[in-house]
Amino acid sequence: MFGVDQGFASGSSKNIATRRNFLKSGVAAASAGFISARSEVAAHQPLRAVLAPYTKPTLIAHRGSSWDAPEHTLAAYELAIKQGADFVEPDLQLTKDGVLVCLHDTTLERTTNVAQVFPDRFVEIKGKKKWPVADFSLSEIQMLDAGSWKDAKFAGARVPTFQQMIDLIRGKAGIIPETKAPEVYGSRGMNMEKALTEVLKSNHLDAPATASKTPVIIQSFSSTSLEALRNQHGCKVPLVYLFSDDSYAKETLAAMKKFADGIAPNKAVVLKHPDIIENAHSLGMSVTVWTFRAGQTGTFKSVREEMQYFLNMLHVDAVFTDNPDQFPRD
Ligand code: G3P
Ligand code: CA
Repeated sequence: MFGVDQGFASGSSKNIATRRNFLKSGVAAASAGFISARSEVAAHQPLRAVLAPYTKPTLIAHRGSSWDAPEHTLAAYELAIKQGADFVEPDLQLTKDGVLVCLHDTTLERTTNVAQVFPDRFVEIKGKKKWPVADFSLSEIQMLDAGSWKDAKFAGARVPTFQQMIDLIRGKAGIIPETKAPEVYGSRGMNMEKALTEVLKSNHLDAPATASKTPVIIQSFSSTSLEALRNQHGCKVPLVYLFSDDSYAKETLAAMKKFADGIAPNKAVVLKHPDIIENAHSLGMSVTVWTFRAGQTGTFKSVREEMQYFLNMLHVDAVFTDNPDQFPRD
């Protein structure tokens, strides 16, 4: 479980009260608009603190450095490290022969040339041709080009296994794998949580994040998946629950705390309910927000300013971004 960390998270009534006052000013600024928010950022900077397992406002490279390089390739992960990522994110899928690979979609056609290499191996879903990951063995998937769709200069990039990703990142950053669509694999008699647990154990990455040189946090949109990891597979690393449902009520956080150590709402949920941050923190739950990317910054002038606002003004603990090089460090 997440321990309550330093600073505001110490739980002393003074710290909580100070934090409440700070966050009230943050919420007010949020309503008043970004310009007034920015002016308050500088004034309140010394009060910055985060909740465990994070030790500082944290940069998570979303699918690697996925603005500049093809998502979920070793090139994207390598660039994320060069750009200073604290954690790198692999979304996980399972091959036909049960190997965890790093890929966002449950199907291969958006980010690989599977349609050219295996033109007849599609299934039709809602009138569209799809190539499910689970219909292909690892050796077949590793024949595919996962780079050209982004740019010709990445031609020949492969879909990495989770093990290859670990080998690249270990000792350089944390890893925050997402169990992606675990129910799709469950319906095929496969068990993503078991596979993930085995890989983490065999790499000695199954210790609590704060006790590891390469901290691991597991995230999922599936509460069932998080519950299975904790209760059936003895998972000891922190668990984070992803959601985009904005029908938030304070009571829902207490329900989430039964299966997750931290919450990961999307940006829209946080902007609609900024009090979610204080409420989560008061329960000892960290707040990780997604996804910050250039070109999708709403009323913010840049992705850097947008992240700055969420981190320095609203006090979220961590952000997922496609643009690690734009992470605000001031
Ligand atoms: O895992 C955080 C964020 O990545 C969730 O959205 O669809 O990009 O996996 P998605
Ligand atoms: Ca993800």
